Order: sequence, then C-alpha cells, then structure tokens
Amino acid sequence: MLNTEKTPEATATATVAGRAHSERIREMFARIAERYDLLNHLFSGNTDKRWRRIVAKTASEKFPPATDALVLDVACGTGDLSLQFKRDGFRRVVGVDFCRPMLEIAARKAEGKLPLLEADALSLPFADNSFDVITIGFGLRNLASVEAGLNELRRVLKLNGALYVLEFSKPVVPGFSQLFQFYFRRVLPPIGDAVNGGQGAYVYLSDSVQRFPDQKELAALMRKAGFEEVKYRNLTGGIAALHTGVRSR
Ligand SMILES: C[S@@+](CC[C@H](N)C(=O)[O-])C[C@H]1O[C@@H](n2cnc3c(N)ncnc32)[C@H](O)[C@@H]1O
Repeated sequence: MLNTEKTPEATATATVAGRAHSERIREMFARIAERYDLLNHLFSGNTDKRWRRIVAKTASEKFPPATDALVLDVACGTGDLSLQFKRDGFRRVVGVDFCRPMLEIAARKAEGKLPLLEADALSLPFADNSFDVITIGFGLRNLASVEAGLNELRRVLKLNGALYVLEFSKPVVPGFSQLFQFYFRRVLPPIGDAVNGGQGAYVYLSDSVQRFPDQKELAALMRKAGFEEVKYRNLTGGIAALHTGVRSR
C-alpha cells in the first residue's frame, strides 16, 4: 500500500519551499502595490468591481447585514472587497494581508473605518470558530498551499459560517478560453511590466491562473477540507468563479 505520510525531512523541505514562495509573493505585491488598483480596473475594464459586488451580495443573502455578521476578508490587499462589504452595510469587517504596502493603501482608502491586520493566511492570528463570513478574493491562488489555506480558513470560521472564494477560473464559453489565454499571456504581461518597470508580476499572474484548479477541482478541494453545501457560480463566462461553502460541523 502507498504510504502517503510525509517523513519529517519532506515536511521540513515543504515548509522551507512554502516560506520561500510566501516571501516571493509578498515582495512581488509590495513592488506593485501602488499600481495594483489602477491595473486591476484597467485590465478588467472594471469588471473586477462587479465581481466583488456579487460576492458581497451573495453573502448578504445568507447573512443580511442587519444580523451584524463578523466578516474576515483574507488576503484583502488594497481593501476593495472589504470596502464593498462595508458599502453594502456590513458593520463588522476585518481585513488581513501579509503585505504591508498593500495594507497601507487599504488603510488610506478605508479612512479608519476598517480594522486591518498584517498576518499570514496560512497561520491566522484568530481563535477557532471566530467569523460568520470569510472571503478571499484573488488570494487563494497565491498561497503556498491551497489545501492548507482552506483548512486554516475553515478553522477560524464559526459553525454555520460561510466561505466565499472569488478567483480566476476556467472560461466555459467556447472560444473564450483561447481568447482569455491570449489576453493573459500576450497582452497583460508586457503592459503590466511596462507600467511596473519590468517586475514580471503579470507573467506570474498568467502562470498562477493556469496552474490553479478549475471550478470543479476547487469545489472538490473545498469538500475535502470539510466544507459542505459547496457551490460555485461562473462569472463573466467562467473567467472568474465564486465558490461558496459552509462549515456545518
Ligand atoms: C491579487 S491580490 C488580491 C487583493 C484583494 N483581495 C482584491 O480583491 O483585490 C492578492 C493578495 O494576497 C495577499 N497574499 C498572498 N499570499 C498571502 C498569505 N499567505 N497571507 C496573507 N496574504 C497573502 C497578497 O499580499 C495580495 O495583497
């Protein structure tokens, strides 16, 4: 029988590789932080704003803002998703990210209305069962381990709390996939690099989207991590998807 248990050496190597990955990601976002919002809205033709509105609206169907649900926005970056929740009437929203320059921009935009914390999504500084709603927008793809990230998000979610994952996904409209790949591989990287002074961040974006699980695979990973009622909704023909899952035990 195949032994899937890791030796201590393999675990240590994975941890070292994970740390190096996190460090690279943090440095990359620190370098592009000042131009992140501009490029996001420009490259998506502002569609990213609509996607975030859909996340907040979907969450408010299960947790109407009047219920005072406690919301944690993980990998909040410059705060756009957290602030969308605030605009939609959620009073108790906390943003967490491990990249200080991204958080500084979030703090500027939030004008004191959003508690922000510098912390790693893989090791959140919260007790088990803390939040009613957890969101992660375009963040899961960047973690050293998607599985470890999902486990950690589930840990801090309350019973009957829900997770909302907004992430790039696999287009489902025929012909769209090729167009999307061309845009991500050929159009975004040179423009992104020109604006950011050749940082390679948009080559990384394209590669990471390529490697990330598709809609069904991510749903399966969420179930494996213990989420229930896992569903997804394709956004803009599957360019992005919103996955939801509930912690019911
Ligand atoms: C593409 S941005 C998304 C920001 C924001 N959620 C949005 O919707 O625009 C990804 C963010 O994930 C953060 N991030 C990546 N890995 C992380 C980790 N392990 N812990 C905390 N934040 C992380 C980065 O610092 C970056 O701000």
